[in-house]
Amino acid sequence: MAPLKLTVIGTGYLGATHAAAMAELGFEVLGLDVVPEKIELLSQGRVPMYEPGLEELLRKHVAGIEGSTGRLRFTLDWAEAAEFGDVHFVCVNTPQKRGEYACDMSYVDSAMESLARHLRRPCLVVGKSTVPVGSAERLAARIVELAPAGDAVELAWNPEFLREGFAVQDTLHPDRIVVGVAGPTGEKLLREVYAGPLGAGTPLVVTDFPTAELVKTSANSFLATKISFINAMAEVCEAGGGDVVRLAEAIGYDERIGSKFLRAGIGFGGGCLPKDIRAFMARAGELGADQALTFLREIDSINMRRRGQMVEMAREALGGRSFLGTRVAVLGAAFKPDSDDVRDSPALNVAGQIHLQGGQVTVYDPKGMDNARRLFPTLVYADSAVEAVRGADVVLHLTEWREFRELDPAELGAVAARRVVLDGRNALDPAVWRAAGWTYRAMGRPTA
Ligand code: UGA
Repeated sequence: MAPLKLTVIGTGYLGATHAAAMAELGFEVLGLDVVPEKIELLSQGRVPMYEPGLEELLRKHVAGIEGSTGRLRFTLDWAEAAEFGDVHFVCVNTPQKRGEYACDMSYVDSAMESLARHLRRPCLVVGKSTVPVGSAERLAARIVELAPAGDAVELAWNPEFLREGFAVQDTLHPDRIVVGVAGPTGEKLLREVYAGPLGAGTPLVVTDFPTAELVKTSANSFLATKISFINAMAEVCEAGGGDVVRLAEAIGYDERIGSKFLRAGIGFGGGCLPKDIRAFMARAGELGADQALTFLREIDSINMRRRGQMVEMAREALGGRSFLGTRVAVLGAAFKPDSDDVRDSPALNVAGQIHLQGGQVTVYDPKGMDNARRLFPTLVYADSAVEAVRGADVVLHLTEWREFRELDPAELGAVAARRVVLDGRNALDPAVWRAAGWTYRAMGRPTA
């Protein structure tokens, strides 16, 4: 039997990583996007974002690159993609609708429809995007209606759990594979595609469409809940004099709770957790199950108020008055380390609020500067942490890059106007900073 040929529709974080990972697993892969610049870049083995290890993996497989396996190509042509693939992975994004909680399904709908119109032979279409429960069933009917091959085209839902910054590793070595199916071939073909990870012991959960869709949104809701839970504990620690870092450590030793995702600070951001919990609430409302998810409203508001609390902490550190005439250094712009993604970034939100209140804010981030400049062109950007801190009255540590943990507080102290550092991620070592003469404050920890 000939090996399966795969297409990947949409080449953002998810699609570009999935395409490269499938080539690494040994498949012939054709990636499709509707943006010509992306296709041009990817065809040269370059990625339009910062993701550790992804460019190397692409260069190993993209056709035309010296020494590559040639297993991976890119195209703008729907008919070519439809003809090529036995399995088509749809990896386009589902952002939050402007001014609404619900997610915008227009990219998924349009990708599925454009592909379906060209499907002339039996094949499997696999949705990987994060979608509201009920979408797969609706799309399965639409595909059969539009495809020249009719009901010889089957749909499966296979949510993705990769984290930015670990995208390659998470795709090649997932914690689990979840497959929602409604026909005879979905499970069979996806077992073939994922034979590598499955052979290495990755658990497989085969289920129906709604469960597969819900696994993804409930997993992200649980992660968001964990973060907001520890941030709520941080608020109580602040009021009662406790130390949330020691508290998280202590509760995390209980295996039922677990130590991960208990880092208190300015909260979660990015293109997934915030919009996914909102879309989940919106969908539950449509289904008449809104009561079941009212707690997510609280999770969201705990998360959003952390940003304001960081601004207030900075104001207090500057004497409690206005930000006018003050200089604030912000270390971090990306929504998390090892990413250049600034979507819904807590760090930039805090920087923006202080800027709007008259503070002179200088931002530095190891990888997120270009994206930050595009989003917040009015902030000042420095070329290094030392330059950002030069002349600052207060330093805000807002994205926990390793580079920031390795900074020399004595060197920074020599250029800062005042040695005050506020750790919005509880990731710096208080003892090291205090020993270098800094006043160190962190969210949810007592002031020494
Ligand atoms: C998240 C999920 O972790 C992935 O499993 C999922 O596949 C992905 O969304 C998605 O839906 O595509 P990601 O957005 O890359 O991944 O980022 P996370 O590592 O989950 O971090 C999200 C935010 O939470 C970041 O802003 C991070 O700084 C914050 N965070 C994380 C905390 O504030 N505290 C923690 O303890 C952990």
